Amino acid sequence: MYTLQPRVCISSSRSSISPKAARLSHQKASTGKPYFREIQEHLSSKLGEASNAMNSTYQQLLDSFVDHTFTFKCQPLRPTESNFAPVDEIGEITRVIEIEGEIPADFPEGVYIRNGGNPLYGALQSVSSIFGQSHNIWVEGEGMLHAVYFCKSNNSTWSISYNNRYVQSETFRIEKERQKPCFLPMTDGNPPAMLIASVLNTVWCLLLLLHRISSVIFLGLSQTFWKCYMLTVEFVQLRFRKVMKSMSNTSVFEHAGRVYAASEDDVPHEVDLHNLSTLGSWHLGGEWKLPFTAHPKVIPGSKEMVIFGINAVQPFLTVGIISEDGEKLKQKVGLKLDRCTYCHEIGVTGTYNIIIDSPLTLNPTRMLRGAPVLEFEEESYSRIGVMPHYGDADSNHSAHSILSIASRKVMSKGISCTKFCDYGSKAEEHARPKFIGFAKLCLEEKQNIATKIDREDLIKVEYHQLAKNQFCSGVTFVPKAAGAHEDDGWIVSFVHDEETNISKVHIIDARNFESEPIAKIILPQRVPYGLHGAFITKRT
Ligand SMILES: [Fe+2]
Repeated sequence: MYTLQPRVCISSSRSSISPKAARLSHQKASTGKPYFREIQEHLSSKLGEASNAMNSTYQQLLDSFVDHTFTFKCQPLRPTESNFAPVDEIGEITRVIEIEGEIPADFPEGVYIRNGGNPLYGALQSVSSIFGQSHNIWVEGEGMLHAVYFCKSNNSTWSISYNNRYVQSETFRIEKERQKPCFLPMTDGNPPAMLIASVLNTVWCLLLLLHRISSVIFLGLSQTFWKCYMLTVEFVQLRFRKVMKSMSNTSVFEHAGRVYAASEDDVPHEVDLHNLSTLGSWHLGGEWKLPFTAHPKVIPGSKEMVIFGINAVQPFLTVGIISEDGEKLKQKVGLKLDRCTYCHEIGVTGTYNIIIDSPLTLNPTRMLRGAPVLEFEEESYSRIGVMPHYGDADSNHSAHSILSIASRKVMSKGISCTKFCDYGSKAEEHARPKFIGFAKLCLEEKQNIATKIDREDLIKVEYHQLAKNQFCSGVTFVPKAAGAHEDDGWIVSFVHDEETNISKVHIIDARNFESEPIAKIILPQRVPYGLHGAFITKRT
């Protein structure tokens, strides 16, 4: 039987030969089987070292190839897009000293936090090469959180402070470490350039397939052989093992006392609300490996959270339920849809999930014919599906649960987009929309317009429009504790004035929606336009 005793004796001797060689020599003399095992371990160790060295060399060669073949260039912004330009991290929580108006005494203590793209290295990137051009699209800037802290001192006076920080995803850290943009844009551009960019960013999926097939073939063979196989796999791994960067730039949400930044290209990243540092990815014990919606919903009354993720291959849409404590994935079901609809939102009632199957679809094979991966299929259908929270794969497909939308034309009854959104002039094609105000829909009240018969059924809409050259982002509703009405509370939003280049947070009384804000908090630095905001109330 193999024992540790001979090893101890030999390793403590002062022989002129190396301890390892002496050990091998001794074991050869004592028994053949341990000697063989030792040879295996030695070989494995050497193979591991060789693998690391080769992998490193290989990656360096690839990086060198990318550096010499592709030219990165910052995408310019139009004059009307000046507040989409990124800002630096302010570095520390900074006290706000100027407030116009007064923050109400019954406004809750907490943090108003908003996510948004803030491209690293100055701007979104385009690359050109012999394969053509590819570039980032406007939703691809790295996520940056902007937080405004509402705290009360002992004498009940408000103390307001501000901080901002990048969400530090794995890919953010890679580019930060290398001090330059490294991921090749692959979302839009010339098809060959997009394809090559995807391949050079990763071949991880192919490797996974190779890995799985080989696991079956090689299972049970010797450790040395297995190491040889792993060496081969390591050798062919390309640069980042990810098709594109993890942005984490779309939303912020809270579940079970933890706060997460999310976007649809990765799982959420947990953040520490105190200093906005990134604590890690939320993989739910490895059970959710798909993208994760930026808009999960808590089931009314249960506190469980409904999530979903889309995938370019079947099942195209997977729905899950996370436990109340955020520790377990209690439900995961792939729905039987026949296309990858770009599902951004889900409706959740006390009993059902409401699924939107729209003709905005994702299909990577379109790249081969030069069409965009994400496309609105003009002639295709739209459906709304209803499924029980714990339904199976067929739930969303049963005849009674699908409402087909016969007409693709959706009438925006009673609401005028031009009153709260500026899409830019026609000369500025593809200009990013900017929001000039807010709309409040009073669903149980009718609009007081009697001039046209066909408008009698319109619901009441109120507008809060900002002053000229002011635009907002990240609006959210902060409910009043123990409010008597559904709209008892406040609307809070980041507002930027392009004339003065000053950013503020506006607080509007939701019941006096069209009136002037009751308070404007003047921020210590510019806050670029972003995406979704949330108010995280302080726990008592
Ligand atoms: Fe959204």
